[in-house]
Amino acid sequence: MKKDLLLPLLASIALIVVVGWNYLSIPGVPAWSEEERRLIASLSLDSLPPLPLDPSNLVADEPAAAEFGHRLYFDTRLSSNGQVACATCHKPELMFTDGLALAVGVGIGPMHTPSLVGLSYSPWFYWDGRKDSQWAQALAPLEAKHEHATDRVQLLHLISSDAIYRDMYENVFGPLSLPAMLPESGTPDGDAQQQASWNALDTEMQTGISQFFANLGKAIAAYERKILPGSTRFDDYAAQVVAGSDGDNALNNSEKSGLKLFIGKGQCVTCHNGPLFTNHEFHNTGVLAVSGQMPSMGRYDGIRISQEDSFNCLGEFSDASTQECIELRFARDANDLVGAMKTPTLRNISETAPYMHGGQMSDLAQVVNHYNDAPSSMLSHNEAKPLGLRIVERIQLEDFLMTLSAPLATEQKWLVAPDY
Ligand code: HEC
Ligand code: HEC
Repeated sequence: MKKDLLLPLLASIALIVVVGWNYLSIPGVPAWSEEERRLIASLSLDSLPPLPLDPSNLVADEPAAAEFGHRLYFDTRLSSNGQVACATCHKPELMFTDGLALAVGVGIGPMHTPSLVGLSYSPWFYWDGRKDSQWAQALAPLEAKHEHATDRVQLLHLISSDAIYRDMYENVFGPLSLPAMLPESGTPDGDAQQQASWNALDTEMQTGISQFFANLGKAIAAYERKILPGSTRFDDYAAQVVAGSDGDNALNNSEKSGLKLFIGKGQCVTCHNGPLFTNHEFHNTGVLAVSGQMPSMGRYDGIRISQEDSFNCLGEFSDASTQECIELRFARDANDLVGAMKTPTLRNISETAPYMHGGQMSDLAQVVNHYNDAPSSMLSHNEAKPLGLRIVERIQLEDFLMTLSAPLATEQKWLVAPDY
């Protein structure tokens, strides 16, 4: 071959390789339909409305209540062994989870610790939704034997005898009075001894103490409203898509293909939708019972418990009017809620393993395989259907889920214990 032909030939080959490479990679980049663009926009944090008001908690947005709640949240003195705080299980550095399959407080609990990020948008709390407000939820772990294992009377002693706490409490809720002859401990929900000392109190005293207890929950809830998700790589990409481009750089091809599966063939978006990637509803997705436990009745029982809870929206400790308790009064109740759990957020999912209500799955590959197989449910039926995803598609889906993490949009001071 003549020398003067070699250079152009090499140049043409190089050109063909470069053009061809780009051309070949184009099928990996989804071209979004109008419907897909709309869905992507709806998942973006830009679509997140301001926090909804909580009419059942008058101090939900009071700064002094959040400061008080912040202190309570990190304080291990609020437990029977002096070692357990809310932050023991909902650790800020793990996106308010604990990294364990089953939670460990004073004892070992039956369930996995969920994230608290963006949770103030949720109308229901716990995997089975047995609490209808964040303040009422906060009361339960304080008295649960496997969590803080203290009670409302012990807490009244603690808060009223600690000068800083007393000040903080009175600043938000008004004068705190300690009834004469108060027993050491007591709650209607405790063991035989706690119940006996509770029953020895007159009704007025009981109501006063439960009101005090409810107020602690209201302060903690005011703090929890600060725990909000931060903008992720996915949100950057969504902004590009909304602006009309296909977002060339925020996500790589595998992640974009994963997004396409998430909102398409994978059907994830039927339940994990909106900017928090949850519809805040309850579904049976065929997750196995926690080993050694009976399968949970899930939302079917949860709704009944919430309706009977003395701290619910309609109860005497709620600040809401009957008209404002729409969620509780009109909650959907049906047989298909047997075994149904609350759809969790997928924001920061790469940081909150293990997964599911009993921490049954240790990584996202296992989760994606679970949805791909859609095993039948032990109780009632699995709403999800087998997906038939190829291995490469499962990896793409996983890659996409990894783009949903970012530091929280929460001021740093709320993420650490307050200075004592
Ligand atoms: C021993 C570990 C542990 C402690 C301590 C603990 N939690 Fe939890 N938390 C859990 C577990 C486990 C669940 C899920 C239980 C269930 O759904 O039955 C949960 C659920 C919640 C939920 C509902 C989450 C959702 O998705 O609906 C909130 C809110 C919450 N905890 C806040 C708190 C607060 C506030 C405190 C302190 C007063 C606290 N937790 C103490 C382990 C703990
Ligand atoms: C029918 C509603 C529904 C569909 C469809 C669905 N999910 Fe879920 N998802 C849930 C519910 C409910 C849970 C909690 C189940 C449990 O713990 O028993 C959950 C849990 C998860 C978790 C674990 C979250 C955590 O914090 O433990 C991940 C990850 C997840 N889903 C991803 C997906 C992906 C990916 C898809 C699509 C392939 C998908 N989901 C489809 C309802 C759904």
